[in-house]
Amino acid sequence: MSDTPAPAAPPMPAPATEATNERAHKAGKRAYEKLAKEKRLGMFARLYLMTLAYLDDSIRIKNHIEAAKAASLSINRQLPRSHTERYKLRTIWYWYPLYCLGGLAFISFLILTISGVVLALYYVPHYEPQEVFAARESVQFIMEKVTLGYVLRGVHHWGAHLMVACVFLHMMRVYFVGAYKKPRELNWVLGVLLLGITFFFAYSGYLLPADQLAIAAATIGQNMFGSIPGIGDTLAKLMFSGTDINAGLIPRMYVLHVWILPFILFGLMVLHMFIVWLQGMAEPH
Ligand code: HEM
Repeated sequence: MSDTPAPAAPPMPAPATEATNERAHKAGKRAYEKLAKEKRLGMFARLYLMTLAYLDDSIRIKNHIEAAKAASLSINRQLPRSHTERYKLRTIWYWYPLYCLGGLAFISFLILTISGVVLALYYVPHYEPQEVFAARESVQFIMEKVTLGYVLRGVHHWGAHLMVACVFLHMMRVYFVGAYKKPRELNWVLGVLLLGITFFFAYSGYLLPADQLAIAAATIGQNMFGSIPGIGDTLAKLMFSGTDINAGLIPRMYVLHVWILPFILFGLMVLHMFIVWLQGMAEPH
């Protein structure tokens, strides 16, 4: 320990008071008006500047924008060097489009969300075996009576196929370029979860029309769950509201399909893509 005194701390900036805030605000306004006059800005440019000035005044966006810029510059977001570049090949690396599959899965999720919200305006989640067929009839109504309803249902139907295919092929791409290896194990595990949820999401939607295919698929699901030793029946009751087809099945699938799975899936997808953004893309091994 030496006896030399510690250097004096730099002076703290004076805390902002109402008066200093007011002065800064007025100075900002004057500067904006001067700029608008000098540059002879049009209405839209003035509106744009005014909005920026207002946002900066009220929530200090400038600080956030600068922090975001610094973060984005400090993180590796480059695509991996291709085989072409790495081995100085004279051919292009054909497999780059496969790096779009994760993004395509996300885009199909967005398309499904939009078309699903519109479908939900007409769909009725009510089915009682042999008695009430409201779910089936509402789907028929969408197909036959709603303007472009068949297109809407088609978009939702094929969007779901696209998403399942993309997620599966994306997983294969990740596997075959070895991108699951350290340090991306966590994202692989998250991906496995995403794959399972995507499959169950698609399955729950398949049951909603409550037609013969759906009821057959629900019976298969109930039997698969029911065949798990020990907890099978409890699980089947939890998931399908019983071990046989009953009036609780469709409302339960509807709640899962519309209110639970999309939110979980969206949250996990954002986390998954945030990790990709932090880690950068893996080079093919
Ligand atoms: C809803 C499903 C999914 C979405 C929206 C999604 C989204 C993405 C996106 C946008 C990327 C950036 C690169 C690319 O598009 O190829 C990516 C990378 C990655 N994904 Fe997914 N993904 C999903 C499912 C999966 C699955 C099922 C797995 C594996 C089981 C997985 C594992 C990974 C890994 C390890 C990376 C890093 C790849 C690299 O650095 O080259 N993802 N994901």
